[in-house]
Amino acid sequence: MRPIMMHFPMPIETPRMILRIPQMGYTDSYDYVEAASESLPEISPWLSWARYVPSVDSTEEYLRDSCANWIVRTSTHVGMPLCIIDKETSKFAGIIVMHSVNWDIPKIEIGYWLRSSFVHKGMISEAVNALTRYCFLVMGMKRVEIRCEIANVRSRKVPERLGFMLDARMRNNQYSVKTGRITDTLVYSRIDLEGLPPIDVRWG
Ligand SMILES: CC(C)(COP(=O)(O)OP(=O)(O)OC[C@H]1O[C@@H](n2cnc3c(N)ncnc32)[C@H](O)[C@@H]1OP(=O)(O)O)[C@@H](O)C(=O)NCCC(=O)NCCS
Repeated sequence: MRPIMMHFPMPIETPRMILRIPQMGYTDSYDYVEAASESLPEISPWLSWARYVPSVDSTEEYLRDSCANWIVRTSTHVGMPLCIIDKETSKFAGIIVMHSVNWDIPKIEIGYWLRSSFVHKGMISEAVNALTRYCFLVMGMKRVEIRCEIANVRSRKVPERLGFMLDARMRNNQYSVKTGRITDTLVYSRIDLEGLPPIDVRWG
């Protein structure tokens, strides 16, 4: 059952970033589109929506659906995304998203993309580390999963760096956006925080 009354303290703050629920009213949409268009060469091989720069209007629609999901505690369609804001520059640095929530276990999956000017700095590992803590400690999750296309080496390194366990290689499980061919998916998971690298994180 959905925990409608559960309090989700926000934002989540780490040493270098703020993770916050998207805001309606176009400012986030413009920032999102700017970040996505700057990053298209790096994100388009892996994310099906990123073959073209999204329009501001469709992005606003996506962000509003996201806000609705946060309100009703579901992850249908667009998941429950958080904007990653770089504290030093106040810039929109990417998205980290919880999706496929199953409140019966409860369990959740984490996905992500970074603006190209913020890659190779450990930003997404920091964000995933913080959100994993939030999932277990605030949301009461019993399982946090990360799925990666097998050829997506940069993405695979994130759960590996954070001590997630490789649960499965799902053969012929997805279409590769990059090649158009059927390929394998790697499934990583954590069922607790044991061995997760220490990080200074707070919320609320
Ligand atoms: C997947 C993606 C978010 C990974 O980004 P990333 O920058 O490689 O990952 P991190 O932010 O965790 O950075 C890690 C790297 O920063 C380096 N780094 C530099 N400064 C650092 C610091 N201060 N702290 C930690 N790491 C640092 C690390 O050594 C590491 O480099 P390495 O992989 O060569 O060892 C990014 O490639 C992306 O957006 N890809 C397209 C979308 C996508 O594939 N999404 C996932 C779909 S499943």
